[in-house]
Amino acid sequence: MTIFRTKSVEQSLADAQGGEHRLRRTLSALDLTVFGIGVIVGTGIFTLTGVVARNYAGPSVAVAFVVAAVVCGLAALCYAEFASTLPVAGSAYTFAYATIGEFPAWVIGWDLMLELALGAAVVAVGWSGYAASALSAAGVNLPGLSAGGWTFNYLAVLIVLLLTWLLVTGIKLSARFNLVMVTIKLAVILLVIVAGLFFVNGANYRPFVPPAQPTAGTGGLAAPLIQVLFGITPTAYGLTGIFAAAAVVFFAYIGFDVVATAAEETRRPQRDLPIGIIASLSVCTVLYVLVSLVVVGMQHYTQLSETAPLADAFKAVGQPWLAGLISIGGISGLTTVILILMLGQSRVFFAMSRDGLLPRSLAVVSPRYATPARITLIIGVVTAILAGFIPLRALAEMVNIGTLFAFVVVSIGVVILRRTRPDLPRSFRTPLVPWLPVASVLACLYLMLNLAVETWLRFAAWMLLGITVYYLYGTRHSRVGTLTSPQA
Ligand code: ALA
Repeated sequence: MTIFRTKSVEQSLADAQGGEHRLRRTLSALDLTVFGIGVIVGTGIFTLTGVVARNYAGPSVAVAFVVAAVVCGLAALCYAEFASTLPVAGSAYTFAYATIGEFPAWVIGWDLMLELALGAAVVAVGWSGYAASALSAAGVNLPGLSAGGWTFNYLAVLIVLLLTWLLVTGIKLSARFNLVMVTIKLAVILLVIVAGLFFVNGANYRPFVPPAQPTAGTGGLAAPLIQVLFGITPTAYGLTGIFAAAAVVFFAYIGFDVVATAAEETRRPQRDLPIGIIASLSVCTVLYVLVSLVVVGMQHYTQLSETAPLADAFKAVGQPWLAGLISIGGISGLTTVILILMLGQSRVFFAMSRDGLLPRSLAVVSPRYATPARITLIIGVVTAILAGFIPLRALAEMVNIGTLFAFVVVSIGVVILRRTRPDLPRSFRTPLVPWLPVASVLACLYLMLNLAVETWLRFAAWMLLGITVYYLYGTRHSRVGTLTSPQA
């Protein structure tokens, strides 16, 4: 069946070598780890820690971070094998094309837009909130800016367009810029952990897992799908609260998979990609657990701020200047997240249009900058529009469901590729195949079930739109299709 035609691994590797469609290999394992940390540490730890501790988990938010890290760790081991076998741009999209087939690959590419472009837009809106509050602390009050509503958020648009320009003019420049920002961000995170320890009050940890409480008014479409499916009364806190919290703080880990999208720009991808993916995820897990433990120890979870919990915890213990420093770290931290999410999106788009599933003329690498400039510009403008107008909260969960879905496909793909192409060199092998990938699929599905019914409905609508586009355009223009059977 044509929709399950696959693109051979050899073809994927050969395409990556082709003339005007070729990217420049400049990145090392350290660059990739920095990229990983740059995109992982962001809104999740800087903002969601407070939201989730207050509403879902109390001090056990640290456990939720561990649960989400385990789910991501399983998926990361699958991503690492794929990235070491098939080091070409496009990440989960490319992996699916080589294993399951063209249509599932398109679905995953379309789905990655939720994670990457929408994720970048969401973080840009968060960035504008931090920037506006830092500016107002300095006495500059900007007019007409709304972080979460439908007002035109020109600060978010501005940051997206500025970062687009950086991406168009060259990945090496972006990597250097990223290194500076990541250093500031890590320094601030370490500051929170070390300085915060002096203000921890043991009483704030009790009860560590607050008893489950029925939640009023969160039934219907806003309730997690799992509770609706099993007719459970929605509750906050308790054991189920930890899992609901994990489904939300999952956002904090999104990004390690984006490392795989830079495969074609990596000097020794077979060795460096697995290192980059696993190292960045491990570093972030340790930091998140420590930060969340310190923050819920500094302030009782019922008092935590939902907009700037790390900074506000220091205000609450009478350290406003430390709070100011942390806000600055927040601004630079979110900047790198937006930058790399857009970078990842441009590489997925690049791979999709090089394959003819989107117009091929878009996949041309600029001779001047050696970057896919056209695609980067288009993504920058779309992300800027999204960031300018989307209501933040309603769409943030969409990013999680899209990413978890991609993880499911990648985990299945590892098992399939082991069967269909056992001969391929794999410098990194996922341990315990097929059990570990199966555990990864189940863990991702379980977290997805903990997301709201309305998130599932929006996700279904987006996917239907993608399927329509595929039938109207992709089936007729696919390079794999036109090369193998002209009428396909
Ligand atoms: N993990 C990224 C963040 O926390 C997306 O903002």
